[in-house]
Amino acid sequence: MSFRAIVLIFATLCLCETLSSISAQTASTMVNSGQRPVVLVTNKETPEKGINKLKLKADVIFPKSHPATREEVLELAGQVDGIMWVGHMPLNGEVLDRGGSRLKAISTMSAGMDYVDVEEFRKRKFPLGYTPIVLNDAVADSAIGLMIAAGRRYHEGRLAIDQSQWTGGPQWLLGQDIKGSTVGIIGLGGIGQTIAKRLKGFDIGQLLYTGRRPKPEAEALGAKLVPQDELLQESDYVFITVPLTNETRHMINESTLAKMKPTAVLVNVARGDIVDQRALVAALKNGTIFAAGLDVVSPEPLPADDELLRLPNAVVIPHLGSATVQTRNNMAEIAALNVLAGIAGTPMFSPYPY
Ligand SMILES: *[C@@H]1O[C@H](CO)[C@@H](O)[C@H](O)[C@H]1NC(C)=O
Ligand SMILES: *[C@@H]1O[C@H](CO)[C@@H](O)[C@H](O)[C@H]1NC(C)=O
Ligand SMILES: *[C@@H]1O[C@H](CO)[C@@H](O)[C@H](O)[C@H]1NC(C)=O
Repeated sequence: MSFRAIVLIFATLCLCETLSSISAQTASTMVNSGQRPVVLVTNKETPEKGINKLKLKADVIFPKSHPATREEVLELAGQVDGIMWVGHMPLNGEVLDRGGSRLKAISTMSAGMDYVDVEEFRKRKFPLGYTPIVLNDAVADSAIGLMIAAGRRYHEGRLAIDQSQWTGGPQWLLGQDIKGSTVGIIGLGGIGQTIAKRLKGFDIGQLLYTGRRPKPEAEALGAKLVPQDELLQESDYVFITVPLTNETRHMINESTLAKMKPTAVLVNVARGDIVDQRALVAALKNGTIFAAGLDVVSPEPLPADDELLRLPNAVVIPHLGSATVQTRNNMAEIAALNVLAGIAGTPMFSPYPY
């Protein structure tokens, strides 16, 4: 064998070794050997901005499966110092148990925390982060879009075109005005307030809201606190922007829908289960209310044969509230900062206030 051949074999061996060590590093089963903490990111499609933030201070691993199976996530939980929990898979005591003593911090990449057993985190005083506020603008924009699309019968109009039923005429597909209307916001939190700000440009007549106590921000927004029944009875547009809790589950149901105006438009950008969807379908079919604009439904994903999708007066989109490039980048970065802070034992950028 020539010297040249020996060098070549040696070089090849070295390269193989380097590659295999790189792939070992990215392999999900990697165990931390050095000082750098290891963070599990539960979804491979998490925006790179967030991943890059993590990589400044930690090694990052992902599940091999996509979407990740719960079993794989649970297995990896025991091999990391922190988790960026991306998606709505239940986050509960089981995850913390499997994480064991090494796991120091978890942050979700969402504002709604209905899939998290917050009580379990509170009991254990376990650092938990989330990403509210940063998505308020994107979700509020989407809510206004649904308000207009549902109130002005966009979906029904499109169906008419598809079915060669474009008849036109002065009485065809008339919708509801926004100008001068009474708008009710159920839950004037960050998203509700951002919707209210946008509505200032629409010359609405009156802004009502419900809540457990008056919001200090309401005055500047010109919003009036009223009982829920009054909001439902008076409003031409009703926005749902409350978190899903046991208390708010099915808070819009047959009896509450019956209180609404037959010309009312319901917009839900919070969580599908806040609305009793069977009751909503019935109400949309028999004219109890005029239309609905829904970014969230139950279940998600909604099966293609669901009756809701057969209704011309239901505008349904697949949970796109925060789905913009910039917003998702920001959410990923904040979640990453939360996890790193939690691992370091310092206060998170946005800790969940349990
Ligand atoms: C919500 O209700 C479920 C089922 O009734 C119960 O198991 C759970 O503890 C409740 N959660 C809270 C936070 O009250
Ligand atoms: C309907 O909603 C109202 C108010 O949100 C609530 O008090 C009532 O218990 C709900 N009814 C059902 C059957 O869920
Ligand atoms: C529409 O259906 C709901 C649910 O079945 C019922 O409560 C309501 O009375 C009906 N309204 C009209 C106008 O028929």
